Amino acid sequence: MSTLSVSNLLGIKHLIKDDIDLIFNTADHFKEVINRPIKKVPSLRDVTIANLFFENSTRTKLSFELAEKRLSADVINFSASGSSVKKGETLIDTVNNILSMKVDIIVMRHPDVGAHEFLSKYVDTKIINAGDGTHEHPTQALLDTFSIKKHLGDVAGKKVVIVGDILHSRVALSNIYALKLLGAQVKVCGPVTLIPKYIESLGVGVETNLRKALEWADVANMLRVQNERMDIKYFPSTREYTQLYGVDKKLLNSLDSEITIMHPGPINRGVEITSDVADSDQAIILNQVENGVAIRMACIYLLAQQIKK
Ligand code: CP
Repeated sequence: MSTLSVSNLLGIKHLIKDDIDLIFNTADHFKEVINRPIKKVPSLRDVTIANLFFENSTRTKLSFELAEKRLSADVINFSASGSSVKKGETLIDTVNNILSMKVDIIVMRHPDVGAHEFLSKYVDTKIINAGDGTHEHPTQALLDTFSIKKHLGDVAGKKVVIVGDILHSRVALSNIYALKLLGAQVKVCGPVTLIPKYIESLGVGVETNLRKALEWADVANMLRVQNERMDIKYFPSTREYTQLYGVDKKLLNSLDSEITIMHPGPINRGVEITSDVADSDQAIILNQVENGVAIRMACIYLLAQQIKK
């Protein structure tokens, strides 16, 4: 397969395994490129990309911008704060105005679930989802699974536990879809209040005891508690959450085998993981960030191949 089966990257749910294999193979090439002294290729010299961020971001925003620049695309950046969105402009009007400036690809983060699906029905462009509310974050899941493959040799057959606030996490849902597609075994672990009731219908196991979950796993992907998305209390206190679901080095050292620790960021040090875990050799958190640029270069490059000029 030399082209993606989809014309937009709206979510992992829409991908087939061949798409992920193609993205990984392309990312392998770009990973080599970004480790050269000259980290740039001319592939997208005639392509213009707009990064629209309606919600805060550090890693994803910078990673997309760098990926686009490494591919020699022209890049414009938009943040909702300070824009005419504050004056009441609709999402469709905002995007159509940007597209009339001859933009080819939209990369968008939006707080509303389904914003990208909605937009894709009304505007004529390529759309990459950089996170939609609590729904999907496809490039994060691609870089996470790519990082597992690079670190452990393969994703198929690996046991991955996703720990923490599953309910509010787009990273969890996209990771579950990608891991299942690639043949991993998946469990989620956290307080029952933070585990969606539908989760087992996705072929995912549930374990509320962190030690048991970690004893089972090859990889633990630790998630942040998304306090900003909570309007009620889901657990008594942060202190109690950390006692039951936080990982420290003492806990890791007491396990039968050494497991790999991942985190999509941003980390709340001392809540879901301690600094001695985040900064340890068991953690591949910064490798994930590095791999994110190669994965995003691959996604942009493959979608750009479909543009007829
Ligand atoms: N992992 C992730 O999406 O981080 P940002 O919110 O900083 O982009």
